[in-house]
Amino acid sequence: HRSLVGIGGLAPHEIMFLLDEAQQWVELNRGTQKRRDLLSGLTIINAFFENSTRTLLSFEIAGKRLGADVVNMAVASSSVKKGETLIDTAWTLNAMRADAIVIRHASSGAVHLISNLVDCPVLNAGDGQHEHPTQALLDALTIRQNKRAFNGLRVTICGDILHSRVARSNILALNSLGAEVRVCAPPALLPADIERMNVQVFHDFDAALKGADVVMMLRLQLERMEGQFIPSPREYRHLYGLSLERLAKAEGNALVMHPGPMNRGIEIDSNVADLVGRSQITTQVEMGVAMRMACLDVLTRRGRGVEGWALESKP
Ligand code: CP
Repeated sequence: HRSLVGIGGLAPHEIMFLLDEAQQWVELNRGTQKRRDLLSGLTIINAFFENSTRTLLSFEIAGKRLGADVVNMAVASSSVKKGETLIDTAWTLNAMRADAIVIRHASSGAVHLISNLVDCPVLNAGDGQHEHPTQALLDALTIRQNKRAFNGLRVTICGDILHSRVARSNILALNSLGAEVRVCAPPALLPADIERMNVQVFHDFDAALKGADVVMMLRLQLERMEGQFIPSPREYRHLYGLSLERLAKAEGNALVMHPGPMNRGIEIDSNVADLVGRSQITTQVEMGVAMRMACLDVLTRRGRGVEGWALESKP
């Protein structure tokens, strides 16, 4: 079986394949009959060791719309709280003969570890500061609904790049698709290996916005900053917050994106987040369901004995 651990394990044609596969589910989800029985009889387990609204719900909705039995492991009331290890938990889920396991975990590498232990595909719903591949795929799908081509598209990602698995996955996906990626953050919120990521680095947000076709804003991940310097919200907004005035420095039709959850009034002003025609934040959520339907379908094809192309390269 193949797992989806990160964008780093996908070839460009595989990313395009998943975008194309998701498009049919965008159309289906906009109709009144939203069910297909493609995954009927399959059991999908969502094991989220970190909080989530969008990713957990959209994986649950995606599995149910495809006819699977979806079970959400309630981590807070599970035996994890009695000290059961991640590996023992994975073996337990595997013994229940899950057909796919979706995992979110605070540790980078946890999903890769589990994918090597179980007999079914594992989908990464976010692991520490490593990757959040379905977020990057749904972001690419959102961009593709609005822009003709990725080639040469200027995408500015601004905010807490250091702690962001969303940024890491998006940088990999957008580079792979031929976009020009810019990142903007205070030096303390950039990863040490940023120079090797094939991005243009900015510390001045106004300069990073000039000519941008897409502006992707990120939340300050305060929960991952224990003991580190944290800028005051007022200071941060002044330097790195997206206001209407700032947005005017980007291209006139630049898209505004944010993976959520937002800190309104800090990294993004409310009147920008809610800007009709420009803000794609609710479209991103909509695309999330379609993209997760595509991922669950494609990754379980081999197990279902379905003929046809499935992801081939190694994670
Ligand atoms: N974008 C995202 O991963 O949101 P959740 O943390 O709510 O799943």
